[in-house]
Amino acid sequence: MKFGILTSGGDCAGLNAVIRSIGLYLLRNVKNAELIGIPDGYGGLIRGESFPLKREDIEGILPLGGTILRTSRQPFKKMTVAEEGGSRLSRMIANYKKMGLDCLFTLGGAGTHKTAALLSMEGCNVIGVPKTIDNDIYGTDVTFGFRTAVEVVTDAFDRIATTAASHSRIMLVEVMGNKAGWLTLHSGIAAGAHMILIPEIPFSLDAVCEFLSARLAAGERTAMVAVAEGAVLDTEVRFKKEQRAFARPAFGETTVTRHLAEVIGERTGAETRYSVLGYLQRGGTPCAYDRLLCSRLGGFAAKLAAEGKFGVTAAVSGGNITFNALADIAGKYKFVDPQGDDVQFARSIGISFGDRA
Ligand code: F6P
Repeated sequence: MKFGILTSGGDCAGLNAVIRSIGLYLLRNVKNAELIGIPDGYGGLIRGESFPLKREDIEGILPLGGTILRTSRQPFKKMTVAEEGGSRLSRMIANYKKMGLDCLFTLGGAGTHKTAALLSMEGCNVIGVPKTIDNDIYGTDVTFGFRTAVEVVTDAFDRIATTAASHSRIMLVEVMGNKAGWLTLHSGIAAGAHMILIPEIPFSLDAVCEFLSARLAAGERTAMVAVAEGAVLDTEVRFKKEQRAFARPAFGETTVTRHLAEVIGERTGAETRYSVLGYLQRGGTPCAYDRLLCSRLGGFAAKLAAEGKFGVTAAVSGGNITFNALADIAGKYKFVDPQGDDVQFARSIGISFGDRA
């Protein structure tokens, strides 16, 4: 049997660990298993590129950051658009057949899963593995790469907190996550943030500044604010994302963080700084939790393939590894529930979400 693997969308820690685990399972458990890597995510499949993956290529890659297959973003909405040489979807299907694949593993986030579902509907044997630092894939408790990013952000937060304390400053730390605030929420709680701003809970400038001013008035000299990349002002909620993107350059950035830091500084009178953590959240070696999760998810996905169970994606439910039908989860997201346990618990210990609740 011939198996292809691709990694698609934004990278994260653990991609190589999953590739390794899929490969080791198949080479050990499927007679005459042949493994190929498809470079640059769906980009490589569109172009019809691949290379052999041997045991020695995957054996030592468990702790390696990034992806040995490389990755790219291929927007879902462009997949079915007519182009010279056929739509991207039709080229991928043709290349899947030309490569003689019996199964294609797609390691990726929500967008990757949408395209995987499309390929599956068109008759390709596809198995997904849920990746993203955003943790926003529907139907799985956790995605691989998320816990490593939580560790990285928490560590960065701890470091920034010490300089905030030295200088008696308010510090804003911008964390990745455009649609979902999981990374900001979990690392914010883990690092002891005083305020957490996430896309799911629009914040008010007044509420933010009042909370911080009250902290200073009570004698505190510093405050740590975790701001998700996708955090939104309550005044922006009625606008679509594109309209917001149009208005935001007035803030000096596409995210709200810099503007917010300026307003906080003006209104509270405290020296206020911000730090954008950026891509360090996606790089480097996976933490032990992710190494274990990736190994389990990869091995499980490979077992599904060996059993001929296609059109699915591996998932975690209540600590167990399981799977969902691609058709059931594609196009859906998992958001932080503003009324859920995580948020309610955080509020109960005094963390503000920048709203009036
Ligand atoms: O992969 C998820 C993510 O890191 C998001 O948190 C972030 O909004 C986005 O990717 C950044 O994308 P890019 O790598 O294209 O700049």
